[in-house]
Amino acid sequence: MLSSLLKRLVRGPTAAEALHRGKTAYEEGRLQEAARLLDAAALAHSSDSECAAYAGLAHYGLGDYRSALEHFESAVALAPERSSYRFNAAAASWALGDRKAAGARCAEALERDPCDVPTLSLLARITLPGPTYTELLAMLHRTLSPRTYLEIGVAQGVSLKLAQASTRVVGIDPAPQLQQIPGANTTVHTVMSDDYFSTRDVRADFGGLPIDMAFIDGAHLFEQALKDFINVERHATPQSVILLHDTYPLTRLTAERDRRSEFWSGDVWRLVLVLKKYRPDLSFSNVGASPTGLGVVRGLDPGSHVLERNLDAIIDEFMAVDYSALDADKPATLGLIPNDSEAVLRLVSGFPTAPARATAE
Ligand SMILES: C[S@@+](CC[C@H](N)C(=O)[O-])C[C@H]1O[C@@H](n2cnc3c(N)ncnc32)[C@H](O)[C@@H]1O
Repeated sequence: MLSSLLKRLVRGPTAAEALHRGKTAYEEGRLQEAARLLDAAALAHSSDSECAAYAGLAHYGLGDYRSALEHFESAVALAPERSSYRFNAAAASWALGDRKAAGARCAEALERDPCDVPTLSLLARITLPGPTYTELLAMLHRTLSPRTYLEIGVAQGVSLKLAQASTRVVGIDPAPQLQQIPGANTTVHTVMSDDYFSTRDVRADFGGLPIDMAFIDGAHLFEQALKDFINVERHATPQSVILLHDTYPLTRLTAERDRRSEFWSGDVWRLVLVLKKYRPDLSFSNVGASPTGLGVVRGLDPGSHVLERNLDAIIDEFMAVDYSALDADKPATLGLIPNDSEAVLRLVSGFPTAPARATAE
């Protein structure tokens, strides 16, 4: 007993012991102490990638991103196969404002683990900086105060709750997960969007008014988004605005029709190509809002039947388009525009404000 204690004192703690003490301090939120212990552990056990990674986490938690990055880079060098270390290095580089290094480390992490949600989410923020789609939606609701708003795909209601109290809101989702309906002016229909449009009197649901603003964010399959677009446009006016989610995919895997990661935009990007080819009369802009773009459609024509009449042929045609169609120039092919609030507000100019509506009616 005494001799083993003496041996321990002479050789110092093993990497596992040092790591354990540092990790405990880190997990209990004692970050200064954790950083001190883990710095010492990483120095004494310089071939142990976990010591380096935990030292990096402690420094990251303290906001010391430079030291964090050094430790994370050591961890990457010691265990190149670990994608999480590359993600950590990306996060520290991003915090230091080094967009290029952060993007490169994310790409490397995704080569090893293409479904990793934290890495995909970080890459989305790096690729599409500026306000997120929910921040833009909130701004549009605040600025335009639409009389009516239809949302396809409600889920927990994150986007539905952004509508103003004065707006008459209809949400559609076969499986909404709302704790409660957000406001007295809101109705949620627990059905698929096709069923909603084929069974309900949409105008009556909006008290006799057309759809001023809509957000299509239901099934992530382009043919469904296309049908939703057709149905919404029929109930809109030339001044309305239709917003489409997931119009700017992040990676091939997350843009597939089969969901393989929690982070998933599906192939709604194909709808962009459809609108560009078959509805050049529309004004379509793909705002680079993270995580996966926000399409803004103006110049709507409720009397247009081009899409509806050619629906099956269009679906066949665009199902055959491979993701590699975006390889040459994804931003230009998908009509990407810079993501800033002023530019988005310009896109919705001409939207009838309350006094203009009063004179028009
Ligand atoms: C990505 S979530 C919506 C998120 C929500 N708009 C937000 O931003 O907080 C997609 C939702 O669409 C719903 N959904 C899927 N297919 C649908 C369909 N055909 N019609 C209506 N909703 C659909 C799903 O049940 C799911 O809750």
